[in-house]
Amino acid sequence: MDRILINGGNPLTGTVRINGAKNSALKLMAAALLTDEPLTLTNMPDLADTRFMAHLLAHLGVAVTRKNGTQMTLHAKKLAEPFAPYDLVRKMRATFNVLGPLLARHGTARVSLPGGCAIGARPVDLHLKALEAMGAQIDLVEGYAVALAPTGLHGAHISFPFVSVGATEHAMLAAVLAQGETVLDNAAREPEIADLANCLNAMGTQIEGAGSASISIKGVGSLGGTEHRVMPDRIEAGTYALAVAATGGNVLIENCDPAHLGALWDRMRAIGVTTEPQGVDSVRIIQNGDRCSAADLETQAYPGFPTDLQAQFMAVMCRANGASIIRETIFENRFMHAPELSRLGADITVHGREAVVRGVPELHGAPVMATDLRASVSLVIAGLAAQGQTEVNRIYHLDRGFEGLERKLGALGANIKRVSEAG
Ligand code: UD1
Repeated sequence: MDRILINGGNPLTGTVRINGAKNSALKLMAAALLTDEPLTLTNMPDLADTRFMAHLLAHLGVAVTRKNGTQMTLHAKKLAEPFAPYDLVRKMRATFNVLGPLLARHGTARVSLPGGCAIGARPVDLHLKALEAMGAQIDLVEGYAVALAPTGLHGAHISFPFVSVGATEHAMLAAVLAQGETVLDNAAREPEIADLANCLNAMGTQIEGAGSASISIKGVGSLGGTEHRVMPDRIEAGTYALAVAATGGNVLIENCDPAHLGALWDRMRAIGVTTEPQGVDSVRIIQNGDRCSAADLETQAYPGFPTDLQAQFMAVMCRANGASIIRETIFENRFMHAPELSRLGADITVHGREAVVRGVPELHGAPVMATDLRASVSLVIAGLAAQGQTEVNRIYHLDRGFEGLERKLGALGANIKRVSEAG
């Protein structure tokens, strides 16, 4: 099993280029199931999660080819049996989003329930209710969602009781081939929703309101192929911005969309870090002082502060000047990084969904263990800001979502390397 070794204390300087968004790419890949024509995705990240999704889609009969590192073509000319087994679903929850497209195209599907994960139970009840509202009959049998829509899906008015990114996307993916119009109220407004809508519209459907809380989808008889550029990964961009906040330095983050990170820029200003958007696709982060100021944080659905950047913000607060209260409102168990950060000398107390971080002048390197994707990268950020050597174990979590992390950080001046068990 690989580990990452960091000798902390170097400021970050230079330019870093952001990849396409993992969370968007996974749902765009599922959209390939909706058409018998090829869907080509450009600006595709190459991650353990996108490979895993490609593996599942290949099992479902999709021909997947990669070109030039960042282009992927998915061609579902003819689907195989619409069956997604446990082994190909359990590792990554986004795979569950194949249920709607399979059902819409095939009239039947059997997809393993994804189960919980380290950050919480993460049920899929809203996904299932949305499909049922469109006419699907779904039974839960031995860990599988067994779904039928013998006469196809029909449009429906679905009002979500709370915001869910995955359920909004799943409902959209099913509604595009349903008969009639579907309206989604209290829909998620994350930029990834608009990215998916843009791609589906280019494939021939008519979706309006994506990015707002009310989305309308006019179903069509069939969809065609298209070429679509995956939006930049706002979480990767925000992670590098917070790494600079932790270490100090001056970094230009390229190929991102600064407009997607308004809530982060607000918190960066509050902790005394300069953020300067440069045109529409770059942002410069400047942190001159040794320590940031402390500021409180609450995660919220978009346009609020993303839960996927909460752990990284906490890593920055560990060395801040003062105390910070961090409140997690999206997931019930998303502070697993706190005890690991404490191993580096951080002073953190967790009470339920709230963590109090009292900034300390210095962190000191130590061996730590990654527990989930975003938590892992918060340990890397803390290691970059700590004195001495930090060893991050179980880094397969990092490979799920951060392409070339140690290469990119190394190019910015960090002393970081990956070592395998053998070497
Ligand atoms: C997506 C992102 C994830 C991000 C999250 C919130 C992907 C692949 N993942 O996850 O990185 O942290 O959005 O921005 O895009 N819930 C239910 N029932 C449901 C669905 C969700 O109770 O049927 C709950 C979840 O347990 C969670 C909350 O709703 O507490 C929000 O989850 P959701 O927005 O659905 O997150 P994901 O789509 O799983």
